[in-house]
Amino acid sequence: MMPAMSKVAGERDLAALTVLGAGYVGLPTAVCLAALGHCVVCCDIDASKIESLALGVATVSEEGLQELLDDGISSGRLRFVVDSAEAVETADMVFLCLPTPQLEDGSVDVSILEAAVHRIGSRLKSGAVVVTKSTVPMGQAQKICEILRRDDVEVVSNPEFLREGHAIYDTFHPERIVVGARDPDVAERVGKLWSTTGAPLLITDPITAETIKYASNAFLAAKLSFVNEVANLCEAVGADSEGVLHGMSYDHRIGADYLNPSPGWGGPCLSKDAHALVNISKEFGYDFAMVRTAIEVNERQMDLICEKIRNSVGGVLAGRVVAVWGLTFKAGTDDLRNSPAVEITRRLAVEGAIIQAYDPSVQSQRPELSENVTVHSDRYEACRNAEVLVVLTEWEEFRSSDFDKVSSELAQPNIVDGRNALDPAILRRLAFRYVGLGRP
Ligand code: UGA
Repeated sequence: MMPAMSKVAGERDLAALTVLGAGYVGLPTAVCLAALGHCVVCCDIDASKIESLALGVATVSEEGLQELLDDGISSGRLRFVVDSAEAVETADMVFLCLPTPQLEDGSVDVSILEAAVHRIGSRLKSGAVVVTKSTVPMGQAQKICEILRRDDVEVVSNPEFLREGHAIYDTFHPERIVVGARDPDVAERVGKLWSTTGAPLLITDPITAETIKYASNAFLAAKLSFVNEVANLCEAVGADSEGVLHGMSYDHRIGADYLNPSPGWGGPCLSKDAHALVNISKEFGYDFAMVRTAIEVNERQMDLICEKIRNSVGGVLAGRVVAVWGLTFKAGTDDLRNSPAVEITRRLAVEGAIIQAYDPSVQSQRPELSENVTVHSDRYEACRNAEVLVVLTEWEEFRSSDFDKVSSELAQPNIVDGRNALDPAILRRLAFRYVGLGRP
């Protein structure tokens, strides 16, 4: 079912659009733009991915995406082609939704993006607009202009703020549309693409738009590190982190969202963007101490979780069986990139622990996981003979588990709840030794 906000744009506003990159950003962008009535060509260098998409098989798991993909293909408004410069020749706008991975030193690798710009440069029609959607370092729009050397082509920054697992909903219900352009008329044209969402349109210059994206993600990361520190402090003083965070949430300047303690924040964006912001700031001679510290606190948080697990089995992890529920970086995704759960299992494995893992969206061994991790397809089976059960991702189904069964499978009734997802009172009644985050 198409979300309610996806009203089709007025006919005169319809455009021919090309989206380069069919990943977590590009594919939702392409299907949503087609749902808004535009004619969209989506390209990727991965021929097998394009083959699947052209057949209507979604390559990214997002609620509502399959329906929009079907609609787009059957209406003829959405086409998939293997990345080729030709695909941009008739486009009014070209969206760059390409990977900008993190390099070893924390800086951003823009080589894939820049190679694409070199490829398409001479093929763009006069008056075309190149739009950066993936997160790019500040000043990248200007660099793209310099690569293109085309006075008749504008480069615009239109960062995305969508959350993985909610990509379609967030695209149709954005809290703001940010467009950074040298020419405000061009910014208006890009902003108009999203006008039916009713979101406020913020028009600014490209470097400000690019900075808004980094500053937003880094702020979120810092908020989460702060929340984890509050939970750690609660543990030290004997306060209840849930009560403290709830009490804080009534101040609208703090807000109730994004206030859950965790084994650390992660995912493909927050971590990369926080590192990039620190790195870019340094390049410009500025020490962004808060974000640098937020990253350090996050690293320490993962150590603290390992310590809780180690303590629960008597202080030594070598040879001990640890059951882990949750491997993805958050619930509602199958993404293991920069997942704190994966990193924690890696650290446990380094100490010699044997890990039996269960995650509803991970059904078999994946390259991101250490050799010491065995993936089970049943959450109770993963508990068999383990000395502790550790919850690392907040999947809803964990709450409604049969804990009598868990108890009978475990060798020792220990639970380390890295998400404060379970009910300690119920578990203690069942004779579990429960350890959460700042919960008495
Ligand atoms: C994040 C931002 O929320 C989006 O606004 C942004 O567009 C996106 O990055 C991006 O740059 O593309 P996402 O990576 O999907 O979205 O993940 P979030 O839902 O923000 O979660 C990030 C991490 O924070 C996860 O590890 C999650 O478990 C953790 N988290 C989240 C907490 O630890 N506590 C919370 O209360 C909320």
